[in-house]
Amino acid sequence: MTEIEQLQTRINEALKQLALPESPSNLYDPIKYILQLGGKRVRPMLALLAYKLYKEDIKPAVVPALALEVFHNFTLVHDDIMDEAPLRRGKETVHKKWNENIAILSGDVMLVEAYKLLGKAPNEVLPKLLEKFNACAQEVCEGQQKDMDFESRPYVSVDEYLDMIRQKTAVLLGFSLEMGALLAGAPEKDCELLYEAGVNLGIAFQLQDDMLDLYGGEAFGKQIGGDIINRKKSFLITRSLELSTNKEALLRLYNGSEQPEQRLEAIKAEFRELAIESESKAYIDRFESSGMEKLERFSHHKNIHALQNMIDTLSGRKH
Ligand code: IPE
Ligand code: IPE
Ligand code: MG
Ligand code: MG
Ligand code: MG
Repeated sequence: MTEIEQLQTRINEALKQLALPESPSNLYDPIKYILQLGGKRVRPMLALLAYKLYKEDIKPAVVPALALEVFHNFTLVHDDIMDEAPLRRGKETVHKKWNENIAILSGDVMLVEAYKLLGKAPNEVLPKLLEKFNACAQEVCEGQQKDMDFESRPYVSVDEYLDMIRQKTAVLLGFSLEMGALLAGAPEKDCELLYEAGVNLGIAFQLQDDMLDLYGGEAFGKQIGGDIINRKKSFLITRSLELSTNKEALLRLYNGSEQPEQRLEAIKAEFRELAIESESKAYIDRFESSGMEKLERFSHHKNIHALQNMIDTLSGRKH
């Protein structure tokens, strides 16, 4: 087992120890379902790897780091309602398997559970951690609202899109690294730098998610082309509209109401024409390099390679 896999296993085992009540089952079963569905556990891993830059024994950081995973899964349950997504991690989404009301309420309790886990952080760092977590969680909601607002806007620029994904996705990855450092009592400057590194890596991560949404195939575990089907303003369409010489036609096609199959195929053909897949890769590289560059400043820390390895693994991900 690689070091990364060992860490993932440790997180999965700790998640299994979460003592959730049995009843009412319609409140707690969906939580158990989504948390056991797999998932890469990226956010707690980032926190623990950042912690390891300063301290060898990760034990005190494991439970607070779970807050990140539970919070993330809460956002997924609600996101899947908003995005009308049928599939998550290769299985039915919570609102499809149960219903929307159940998904809303289970999600709400997951947020409470996340706070309970965060509350287990040592007293000396808890106020700071809470302040930062609250700011981050609020930004995630702001990003999600922008994402929703963009759905009904005909045109969104790449800059507006990047600002939206920084909030809905990247700040949580930034906070995850920062949290690991805060828990380890790292200097403030390091915490800030790790946050910035995480934000850049998080932007790359969401750009890649948008690319995999269409090009990832079955292995991605979500509805193929779900972003197009739901007329989401993903990177693929926002950048295509900047590159296209016939924006009006592309806009009409994207926002149009042709048969889903035909619409998907026609849009894919447009994207192919504009080489949007390699354009996405170029953007991903740009933000990933900028994140990695910030991590270079930690090159004198013994365990920096584990963190760098994990990020490398992520950039080659298929799901
Ligand atoms: C999916 O997150 C949602 C995004 C922010 C892109 P992940 O890709 O981390 O999903 P899981 O937890 O591994 O399933
Ligand atoms: C999700 O973005 C971001 C959050 C959950 C906050 P997406 O809507 O692209 O995530 P997926 O593709 O459904 O996982
Ligand atoms: Mg979404
Ligand atoms: Mg979604
Ligand atoms: Mg997506």
